[in-house]
Amino acid sequence: MRFPTIWRKRLIFAGAKICNCEALRSNRAMSTDKVIVALDYDDPATALSLVHQIRDYITFFKVGSQLFTRTGPEFIRELRSLNVQVFLDLKFHDIPATVGHAVLEAVKLDVRFLTIHTSGGSEMMKAAVQSVAGSQTTVLGVTVLTSMDDSALHEIGVTQTVSAQVLHLAQLAQQSGIRGLVCSPQEIALIRRKLGPEISLVTPGIRSTSDAKQDQKRTLSASEALNQGATHLVVGRPITQAPDPVEAARKLVEEVLRNKTPHTEKS
Ligand code: C5P
Repeated sequence: MRFPTIWRKRLIFAGAKICNCEALRSNRAMSTDKVIVALDYDDPATALSLVHQIRDYITFFKVGSQLFTRTGPEFIRELRSLNVQVFLDLKFHDIPATVGHAVLEAVKLDVRFLTIHTSGGSEMMKAAVQSVAGSQTTVLGVTVLTSMDDSALHEIGVTQTVSAQVLHLAQLAQQSGIRGLVCSPQEIALIRRKLGPEISLVTPGIRSTSDAKQDQKRTLSASEALNQGATHLVVGRPITQAPDPVEAARKLVEEVLRNKTPHTEKS
């Protein structure tokens, strides 16, 4: 049966509208594990409430020393029972045996990422790497804290500049079997160039042009960080303190999913 042209146009228009509705519906379930939301709260109930609100979009959450010291491993188990991934950011730094044992405990909690200080040396890093063998946990190395500048390094006896020291520790970490690093936005490109495509680079300090920068001095947008070689983005206040955290999470995830970065985590 043939419809008059005007009706054919209206049918096509109605079809397109239906398709758009489908796209919108499926967008609600869009998510990515490239974005990790930092649960920087002292109160587990508030943290859990945020997880429930945004977990259609965000499936990966960072727990740092404040929340962990308040809640302990039970909170990590609770997050895992919600089927979200956990980044346990406790930055271990101790003798190799102690770090190895602490990492084993984190592996039992089934966290996906945990952090250690690369300045603990190659033996300490190897002990951590050994403890995650055969698990889904990846050890991330922290190089130089972004709170330290050249003079703070000199104070503790390191005479190199911050960027030379970052690169030195990053290379030592890779030689010790570490497969991921935490790096600031200004270090992504340099580390990616020097360490190649395999290493995971996890980057905080992500802000869109409309976000308040808070105490972050050097920031990049999500797309810029991914284009420079980041594999994961850590985002805190632009989502946790947004007037509408769900909308903030949705917009960020949309931007990340649009990005066609060649760098993804190697498993
Ligand atoms: O709120 P904001 O997005 O600045 O949070 C970033 C998260 O990443 C916080 O948990 C912060 O401790 C962490 N972080 C950082 N800068 C670093 C290392 C970690 O902001 N150099």
